[in-house]
Amino acid sequence: MDRLEGPPRLIVVADLDCTLVDHDDPENTDLLRFNALWEAHYRHDSLLIYCTGRSFSSYMSLRKKRPLLTPDIAVTSVGSEIVYSGDSTVSDVVWTARLDYKWNREIVVEETLKFPKLEPQPDKSQEEHKVSFFVEREDAVEIMKELPGILEERGVDVKLVYSNGYAFDVLPRGAGKQGALTYLLDKLDIEGNQPSNTLVCGDSGNDAELFNISQVYGVMVSNSHEELLQWHEENAKDNPKIFHASERCGAGIIEAIQRFNLGPSVSPRDVLDSENFHAESLNLAHEVVQFYLFYERWCCGEVEKSDKYLQNLKSLSSPLGIFVHPSGVEKPIHEWIDEMENLYGDRKEKKFRIWLDNVSSSHISSDTWLAKFDKHELSEGKVRSCSTKVLLSYKEEKQRLTWMHIHQSWLDESFSDDQEKWIF
Ligand code: GLC
Ligand code: MG
Repeated sequence: MDRLEGPPRLIVVADLDCTLVDHDDPENTDLLRFNALWEAHYRHDSLLIYCTGRSFSSYMSLRKKRPLLTPDIAVTSVGSEIVYSGDSTVSDVVWTARLDYKWNREIVVEETLKFPKLEPQPDKSQEEHKVSFFVEREDAVEIMKELPGILEERGVDVKLVYSNGYAFDVLPRGAGKQGALTYLLDKLDIEGNQPSNTLVCGDSGNDAELFNISQVYGVMVSNSHEELLQWHEENAKDNPKIFHASERCGAGIIEAIQRFNLGPSVSPRDVLDSENFHAESLNLAHEVVQFYLFYERWCCGEVEKSDKYLQNLKSLSSPLGIFVHPSGVEKPIHEWIDEMENLYGDRKEKKFRIWLDNVSSSHISSDTWLAKFDKHELSEGKVRSCSTKVLLSYKEEKQRLTWMHIHQSWLDESFSDDQEKWIF
């Protein structure tokens, strides 16, 4: 949370499965729309929190399969773990220690064994502060009436959460998504960094609690489970800050940002302006996002093959500007732009997508800025990634940014044989 210098403008708290990640859409269309919006307009002054029922390792494996941005914080295992992103990830041990209060995993396991309808979830879904089962809805309703009292007699105070019409979690009383988010918001408050707005986003039973937190806006995506809609009907029907989107998953989140007027709500992916990258002068993040969207469309043959676009790219960059390719080859940026001609349409039918992550910019000198980000490229199911730095200069008289220098280096195991198929 230390990345920002002041209070966040917006905090988006998003559940993952069937909220930010649409499992019915292998192309990740709305997730990529959300990503472009976030990096272009929010990353620099807002916080992104993922809040999932998955364990941390299961969340990390989802990140390998889907183009998920790096969040500032990941709340995992239905609120029983909080992990901060940074150069390395750090788990919040204060939070974990709190969950020990009136909790005893062994007693929970022992007592739940007496309910034959509770079928334990696989070992990988069991955590120190989360005991999980599969159970039918009607049976869950009955068990929820009895189990807390039985455990209370043995000194254990629990919270029971039913989700997705099959999952049943037994958690320490203070855990859950609401507990974790309230803890994080209190921390910000103590530091004097209360956010201007917070938007919580969910689709199923374990998200219901998030909508209970006072002051937050909430969106239940269009594809929300009956259990969440019913909870809303019974508990929050008259709260004007909560609404049921008409769009699915990521599109529903963008819809909510617009509806509640929380800031820019047009994803750069929805704008087909391939020439005017300067619509917002001095928004470096927006400019780099636009640049790469154009590059994606060019490689997919989704814009017309016209020299005017390449000339436009040249006008954005200095004739003296150098691009250091991740392979180590250095050439003037304009020469690389000339090479783009051969790449036109080359990635058509290859499900080629680009997304930027962690875009940041810093002011280096009076008219010089440095943008940093990770660029990810997906082609035929394979992802390659580069850490990227772009030096830009701002000319007051032209009211625009000029790309002066670009430097990339491969991230992870992204180095590959067909390096010539990677330009920017
Ligand atoms: C995720 C977890 C599972 C949990 C469910 C509902 O699917 O893997 O253990 O029961 O979320 O919270
Ligand atoms: Mg979900």
